[in-house]
Amino acid sequence: MLRISLLAALMHLAWTAAGGAAEATVRCRQGAVVSVSEPASEIGLAALRQGGSAVDSAVATAFALAVTYPAAGNLGGGGFLVVAGPDGNADAYDFREVAPAAATPTMFVDPARRTPHRRVGVPGTVRGLELAHRQHGLLAWADVVRPAVELARSGFALDGANAQSLNELLRTSDKQQFAELHRVFGKPDGGSWQAGDRLVQPELAKTLARIAAQGADGFYAGETADKIVAEMQLGAGLITAADLRAYSAKRREPLRGSYRGYQLVTMPPPSSGGTTLIEALNILETFDLDRDRWSVRNVHLTIEAMRRAYRDRARYLGDPDFVAIPARLTSKEYARDLAANIDPRRATRSQDLAGDISLAPESPQTTHLSVIDRAGLAVSLTYTLESSYGSRVVVRGAGFLLNDEMNDFGWLPGVTDSSGRIGTKANLIAPHKRMLSSMCPTIVLRNDRTVLITGSPGGRTIINTVLCIVSDTIDFGMSVREAVAAPRWHHPWFPDAVRIERQLREQRPQLVDELEYLGHKVVEAAAQGDAHSIAIDPESGEITAAADTRISGHAAGY
Ligand code: DON
Repeated sequence: MLRISLLAALMHLAWTAAGGAAEATVRCRQGAVVSVSEPASEIGLAALRQGGSAVDSAVATAFALAVTYPAAGNLGGGGFLVVAGPDGNADAYDFREVAPAAATPTMFVDPARRTPHRRVGVPGTVRGLELAHRQHGLLAWADVVRPAVELARSGFALDGANAQSLNELLRTSDKQQFAELHRVFGKPDGGSWQAGDRLVQPELAKTLARIAAQGADGFYAGETADKIVAEMQLGAGLITAADLRAYSAKRREPLRGSYRGYQLVTMPPPSSGGTTLIEALNILETFDLDRDRWSVRNVHLTIEAMRRAYRDRARYLGDPDFVAIPARLTSKEYARDLAANIDPRRATRSQDLAGDISLAPESPQTTHLSVIDRAGLAVSLTYTLESSYGSRVVVRGAGFLLNDEMNDFGWLPGVTDSSGRIGTKANLIAPHKRMLSSMCPTIVLRNDRTVLITGSPGGRTIINTVLCIVSDTIDFGMSVREAVAAPRWHHPWFPDAVRIERQLREQRPQLVDELEYLGHKVVEAAAQGDAHSIAIDPESGEITAAADTRISGHAAGY
């Protein structure tokens, strides 16, 4: 026990001593971690320095993010982790939430029943991190959890982005309905949070301490489970003790694809991320792209690849334990068929691909982290509460937020319409079913050696953010720093509009005119994604960790 506490204190001190200046880019040789949060990345780095594997580091970082980035870092949500070894072996971990046993396909038809507690899926994060750690960890479980306990107990200094985000959360959350949220995340004196203020979370520390001591059973059974069930009963939610006991994380065969001689290892269903990414890249690969990254032809062809892959996403993808997903979606042959009807001089109309279907917008909160260790083990981890701060329901007395991941199911069976709803069968609600995700943790290899670790938040935009970064690096030779900073765009099939980052219009104003001339509807977004990524130079072995600075971020390495 003493050993554990000392190690935790050392890991905690490591980031405290690092003091303040968040690093956007780090170059190093042994190992690196990059995430949205400075203290979390430093805790991940400390795990690497202690001799931990990339999975130890990712798990330590993820638990730390549950403390330092409450908008998306979580215990009460779910996600996916892809790990690839230096030998080309890889595993994918699925800790997506599931619908409770009492869920039904029509439970959200009546708008009055779409309450925060009913939107909560059975959380997967803690089981998933435990499973990945059991199979790839070198440090003791308690050692990787304990730094987060310390961080919650003694508090950490909020950065400007976090302070602003918490103020916005409190301003927009009803004080009576979300009383526990206000108690836990409100400033003790009642004022607004400022950068540098300390957020102390004693109840979260106790929950994390139970997880450190008992493993995932410290969450899914005993005191924490009792508190979750009591919270559900207070808000007429559906999750029971039996749902929590029955939850299991899954190791899945990662999805593999290739792009212009590079190998991709990414997440299979129930995320749509990997399938849609590989399908779109396969289509793009059938074209010789121009040298100018921003030529209208390049952007147009990418949009058309996105459009077709997202059409199949909407049509076919769901939890593979419940629906059969056609294997051809990721085949090169199928991509050639799809590419054959792309007109290089004209935008396809989405309804010409299959009727009048549109997709609902999603809010931009989730978080991604990338890690590489000294042995060359790479981890790409994306996890989420779905909306920013999830359902905003904090489990009374346990200090953590619950997800609102049930949002990711199709809510109205059979109703697919131009307002953005999809009611196709593959993603309707069923007891114990996983809701479809777009998260896309991805590792790119060359000759079986990892060269890029990437992923992003951003709901449906996630897959297209990853697609832009993969193409930036492979097609246009950008460094990881350049690729993470470069403008991104997103076409989701429906709504039939391409959404470009504002910086792209500012840098290339004529591109918008040219796209419109080809028949694309162009809309603008302030920013897309938050893709903390790592590249490894296959020749020199040099590691470059690049934080995405669209929100905040910190790269740490040694
Ligand atoms: O699983 C998904 O695809 C979504 N629930 C992720 C939500 C998200 O990324 C929100 N925005 N960043």
